[in-house]
Amino acid sequence: MKGVILAGGTGSRLFPLTKVTNKHLLPVYNKPMIYYPLQTLIEAGIKEIMIVSGPGHAGHFLNLLGSGKEFKVKITYEIQDEAGGIAQALGLAEDFADNEPVCVILGDNIFEDSIKEHVKDFKKGAKVFLKEVTDAQRFGVAEVKGEKIIGIEEKPKKPKSNYAVTGLYIYDAEVFKVIKTLKPSGRGELEITDVNNYYVNKGEMKLAMVKGYWLDAGTFNSLLRASNVLKEKEEKKSSNS
Ligand code: DAU
Repeated sequence: MKGVILAGGTGSRLFPLTKVTNKHLLPVYNKPMIYYPLQTLIEAGIKEIMIVSGPGHAGHFLNLLGSGKEFKVKITYEIQDEAGGIAQALGLAEDFADNEPVCVILGDNIFEDSIKEHVKDFKKGAKVFLKEVTDAQRFGVAEVKGEKIIGIEEKPKKPKSNYAVTGLYIYDAEVFKVIKTLKPSGRGELEITDVNNYYVNKGEMKLAMVKGYWLDAGTFNSLLRASNVLKEKEEKKSSNS
């Protein structure tokens, strides 16, 4: 399986922090933000990783991560010319995926949990990773019946559950055909939630619950919280060693 980190977008919610740099290069405690999703993919055993970013800062990602040699993986880069949505950014990885399944992670999502087993066991269809939250209206929200997702709504005013769809997805290669059929949403983006609902409606969407913390570092408060959570984790680690 190949890995894709989506690190485009405008970072408008973090302005002016993102006026001259890319959101995913900002510090989260003692590392640039993108190190965390990268680590999630590497820990899962994924060896070939593509980073999709906007044209303004692609060179900075290259300076930071290079060929991936330091991490014992191969990193390649792709440019998303305009912030046309998460699904549009993923569509740019079609040639890179080369008919293999892809594990996709948003560059501002930080997970404590390992996804190694999910990557190993994946065969077909799609899988999303859910986390129970208290502010579901900020996210894609899954309506769940038993073990199944019956629908996903993007940032609903009245969420049907407290299960946020986190920014981590596994898809088979059909995903690239699905993306080609999408129309821009009200906010002018190709939505990953529309991709996910395609698999839900086809009966090919699986779910997993995320254990441990899940941090989306895309707002001032969540960015600060992410730094604090990781600081505590590092301090615990060093006091135990
Ligand atoms: O964090 C999880 C949430 O991420 C999900 O619950 C939502 O369903 C999903 O739509 C997304 O919502 P956000 O509003 O947080 O997405 P945002 O526009 O902040 O984009 C998240 C990341 O996706 C961003 O850090 C980089 C990447 N991205 C985004 C856009 C719009 C791109 O690479 N290209 C883009 O054009």
